Amino acid sequence: MKIRNRHGHFNLIAPFYDRFFGGMRHELLFQHLDVQPGAMVLDIGGGTGRVAQHVARQGGQVIVVDPSPAMLRGTRQKGLPGVRALAEQLPFPAESIDRILIVDAFHHFARQALAARDLVRVLKPGGRLVIEEPDLRFRGTKAIALMEKLALMQTHFLAPPDMVDLFEAQGARLLTITHERINATLVFTK
Ligand SMILES: C[S@@+](CC[C@H](N)C(=O)[O-])C[C@H]1O[C@@H](n2cnc3c(N)ncnc32)[C@H](O)[C@@H]1O
Repeated sequence: MKIRNRHGHFNLIAPFYDRFFGGMRHELLFQHLDVQPGAMVLDIGGGTGRVAQHVARQGGQVIVVDPSPAMLRGTRQKGLPGVRALAEQLPFPAESIDRILIVDAFHHFARQALAARDLVRVLKPGGRLVIEEPDLRFRGTKAIALMEKLALMQTHFLAPPDMVDLFEAQGARLLTITHERINATLVFTK
C-alpha cells in the first residue's frame, strides 16, 4: 500500500506541533495502557512522539509508527525509534505486540476498517489496544471536524459505539470506555 501525500498537513505543522499540543494531559490513557517493563508498545499515528516519550518512561519498548517523515523527525529527536508506515499495513508479525496506543489519530486513517484489522492482527492475545479520540457526540468535536474539513484534511470521526462495532468485528473485545473532557478512551483486548 502506497503512502500518499495526504499527510502533507502534518509535514507542514510538525515543527510547531509539540509547542501547541505538548501541554495536553493523558493520565487516564496511561493508566489504561498499564505498560509492564519490557513490553512491546506501538504508538500508531504517534507523530512527534509527544505521548510516546511518557510511555517510554514507564519501561516499555515504544516504537512510533507514522506516515509523515517530518512528524517522525520529532520522534527521533526524542531518542525514540520511528517507523514510516500506515496503520492499515503494519510491518510487524501477527500477535507480536503487547500494547497499542492511538491518540488523536484514528480519524486521520484513510481506511479505518483495514486499519482495525491490522491493529488486531499484530496485538498479542491478552494485549491491550487503547484509543483516545475526540467523541463525535460532543459539540467541541463537531467543531474540530468542521475546521478540519475546511482545512481540506480528509478526516473521518466515528462515535465510540461505531468504533466498538468496527473493532469487535475484527475480533477485539471492549474492556472499558472512559471520558476526559471531549475525549473518549476506548480500551480493547483480544
Ligand atoms: C493529530 S496527529 C496526532 C499525533 C500523536 N498521536 C499525538 O497525539 O501527538 C495525527 C497523526 O496521525 C498520522 N496518520 C495519518 N494517517 C495515518 C495512517 N493511515 N496510519 C498511521 N498514522 C497516520 C499523521 O501523520 C499524524 O502524525
